[in-house]
Amino acid sequence: MEYTPFIILLILLLNSYSTHSQKAPIAPTQPPSSSPTPSSPSTLDPKQVRALQSLDFPTKKDPCSNLPKAIRCDNSKPFRNVISLHLINCSDGVSLSSTALKSLSTLRDLQFINCPVSLVSFPSELVSNLKSFTSINSMKKLNGVWLSHLENVTDLIVTDVPIKASGPVIITAHLKKANKIVMSHTNLTGELPGKSWSTNISHIDLSNNLLKGDIPTSFTDLENLVSLDLSSNKLTGELPTSIGDLIELKNLSLSSNSFSGPIPKSLDSIPSLAFLDLSSNQFNGSIPKFLGEMKSLKYLNLEKNNFQGVMPFSASFIKKLEVFKIGDNINLCYNHTTISSKIKLGIAKCDKNGFPITPAPKSDAEDEEDEDDSSSEDSTSPKSGGSHGPNKVVLGVAIALSSIVFLIIFLICLSKKCT
Ligand SMILES: *[C@@H]1O[C@H](CO)[C@@H](O)[C@H](O)[C@H]1NC(C)=O
Ligand SMILES: *[C@@H]1O[C@H](CO)[C@@H](O)[C@H](O)[C@H]1NC(C)=O
Ligand SMILES: *[C@@H]1O[C@H](CO)[C@@H](O)[C@H](O)[C@H]1NC(C)=O
Ligand SMILES: *[C@@H]1O[C@H](CO)[C@@H](O)[C@H](O)[C@H]1NC(C)=O
Ligand SMILES: *[C@@H]1O[C@H](CO)[C@@H](O)[C@H](O)[C@H]1NC(C)=O
Ligand SMILES: *[C@@H]1O[C@H](CO)[C@@H](O)[C@H](O)[C@H]1NC(C)=O
Ligand SMILES: *[C@@H]1O[C@H](CO)[C@@H](O)[C@H](O)[C@H]1NC(C)=O
Repeated sequence: MEYTPFIILLILLLNSYSTHSQKAPIAPTQPPSSSPTPSSPSTLDPKQVRALQSLDFPTKKDPCSNLPKAIRCDNSKPFRNVISLHLINCSDGVSLSSTALKSLSTLRDLQFINCPVSLVSFPSELVSNLKSFTSINSMKKLNGVWLSHLENVTDLIVTDVPIKASGPVIITAHLKKANKIVMSHTNLTGELPGKSWSTNISHIDLSNNLLKGDIPTSFTDLENLVSLDLSSNKLTGELPTSIGDLIELKNLSLSSNSFSGPIPKSLDSIPSLAFLDLSSNQFNGSIPKFLGEMKSLKYLNLEKNNFQGVMPFSASFIKKLEVFKIGDNINLCYNHTTISSKIKLGIAKCDKNGFPITPAPKSDAEDEEDEDDSSSEDSTSPKSGGSHGPNKVVLGVAIALSSIVFLIIFLICLSKKCT
């Protein structure tokens, strides 16, 4: 008991000593602090060291203790094993060999980032252990059959690599343990699979591909889905009513497709929806009022569609959102008795029958930036120069008023000087 402060002091001293000795440039011998402990960690398996060398990985110092981010090792004896390896910014000469991969079969997490190696088949022991596979702008090209072999992964992330496959189902149907599947910017063709997904799947990102067809009704059985990004594909059709069954959904992005029809009423049964992007489609009908009552919503983008009628949102709802976009809906308008024209919406005012009065001003990309700036009328914004009559009148009045004010001030000034 009475030794505790002493021990703490000793630990502090040792700590400061070891950090200092690491920084000291001239330290040819091992710092003594690491040798006296009998349980000093073992070193990396020599066969894995050679494999890492063949991948151009620096191995001068013990890789397990010197590259905390790019590599992680377990603590097994007599030798440690690599369990996580990130190959980043590889030089062009690097190549994957079956021997190297066989030696590295203990890997659970393997990432290639900007690493243009050629594809080789993975040894079965590696395939069995691998839980997470990432290829970002790496491996020149991938194919569906190769990816479908990675049956034990929970996380598959492929971006900026072309994937050759007749459809995502070839891959998704085999990854029965997947929690997260990202295949984005891969030029993937085919249709969105309905059934066949891992029941545990929580994140799907198939954005920026060439997928066609609609969202199958059976897709909405994925009750653990938290995030769905299908943006920038060639998807069509109406959203299935059963989309409301995705009750865990927080993030839904369907932008830049050719979806049509109305926003399904069932969306209001998704309690934690925070991010909803339906922009750049052909959705139509009126915008349902319930969207403006969704408590969790932070990002709402409905711009560039064919919505019509009176926009149902209150000013306080719009203020509460981090991002709100609704411009470029030619048949949509806002009620100017309830919404100030200071809020730039990129849509026209309604007449008393609920139809747009003037042609809608063009929406700017930076709408949400200057939501509450002090420019007097949205009609003075430079973007709306297309519509003539009312603009010129407002401008004329403004100029006239300010010159009168100026003149008065000038006159007062003059009269004071004269006396
Ligand atoms: C890889 O290269 C990119 C751009 O060349 C650079 O920004 C990044 O820091 C590099 N990463 C590593 C881990 O070397
Ligand atoms: C997946 O892992 C299990 C053990 O967790 C193993 O029995 C099975 O063979 C592995 N699957 C493949 C395709 O390697
Ligand atoms: C997808 O295809 C387009 C057009 O052929 C090409 O420009 C682009 O580089 C491809 N993307 C990938 C990730 O290969
Ligand atoms: C689903 O996830 C749970 C907990 O994350 C896990 O216990 C279960 O084994 C997983 N099921 C499948 C089929 O992977
Ligand atoms: C939702 O997805 C979009 C697009 O993939 C992403 O930019 C955004 O950060 C995500 N938001 C959340 C809350 O996950
Ligand atoms: C929406 O568009 C579809 C065709 O895509 C059309 O059949 C339907 O009548 C439209 N609905 C409304 C309310 O305009
Ligand atoms: C605009 O709002 C006012 C006040 O709530 C209401 O009386 C009027 O009918 C609304 N106009 C339209 C076109 O909805």
